[in-house]
Amino acid sequence: MNERLADSHRVFDRVSQEYDAARPHYPEALYLALETLSGIRLAGATVIDVGAGTGISTRGLLDRGARVVAVDRGELMLARLRVRTDCPALLADGNDLPLRAGAADLVTYAQSWHWLDPALSVAEAVRVVGDGGAVAGWWNTVDPGKADWLAANQVRLAESCPGYIGPVLPGWSMPPMAAAMSDAGLSVAETWVDWTRSVPLEDFLTDLRSHSYIASMEGGVATELLARERAELGRVFPDGRLTVPMRVYLVVGRRGRRGAM
Ligand SMILES: C[S@@+](CC[C@H](N)C(=O)[O-])C[C@H]1O[C@@H](n2cnc3c(N)ncnc32)[C@H](O)[C@@H]1O
Repeated sequence: MNERLADSHRVFDRVSQEYDAARPHYPEALYLALETLSGIRLAGATVIDVGAGTGISTRGLLDRGARVVAVDRGELMLARLRVRTDCPALLADGNDLPLRAGAADLVTYAQSWHWLDPALSVAEAVRVVGDGGAVAGWWNTVDPGKADWLAANQVRLAESCPGYIGPVLPGWSMPPMAAAMSDAGLSVAETWVDWTRSVPLEDFLTDLRSHSYIASMEGGVATELLARERAELGRVFPDGRLTVPMRVYLVVGRRGRRGAM
């Protein structure tokens, strides 16, 4: 496994507090699209949420009636999840799930699949969902095509952060989970959900600090960068509340029932 993947949970553990405090939730329409594309009603479904982190996706699934088992390799991220949910939470590697074959209806990766091994992770998910189950990944991202201030913010981040990953990079695209699912024999469907986030400026900056490309920078450099963003964004939003155009990309792979046409 390459170094970026092997150490990702340590990067997130360093910013678990910021992650928990300020990362966005996922909109209702995302969960509806998940039900539609997977053919699985969340109420009553058994869901394994891999890379559950501090529990943003886990709580969204629990709120809709799913029975969720959260899985993450980051001890501090999971500790935050445990504070606010009492679902089972396993400190484990998503590439090697400690779960029996057919244990779940759905395996989800919210904002996390790109940190796992692309082939091993999907093979594990397919094993764990069994016949008729589904595997889903989704990613929240800002939508700089809809606001000049956001495009300018992302360009500044791309120029200042060596590890920046995001929509203003030439050739940027969502992680290739659809291809990995297709290679694993799943029937794949994709969609995008647009939404708008209203967020205080300080929370937006805390959210930025929790992104791996800032979390992996030296502390003083990150603080300086965020001070610059506070000044730039404060000029655009003098009342201190941002309206941020967002998009969620959702990909779902369904595993057919053995013998079904
Ligand atoms: C960006 S966070 C996503 C958290 C959450 N699902 C959400 O929606 O906010 C990615 C998480 O994946 C976890 N992770 C990275 N590699 C992993 C692996 N091999 N197995 C399990 N979790 C992993 C990290 O520790 C981190 O908590």
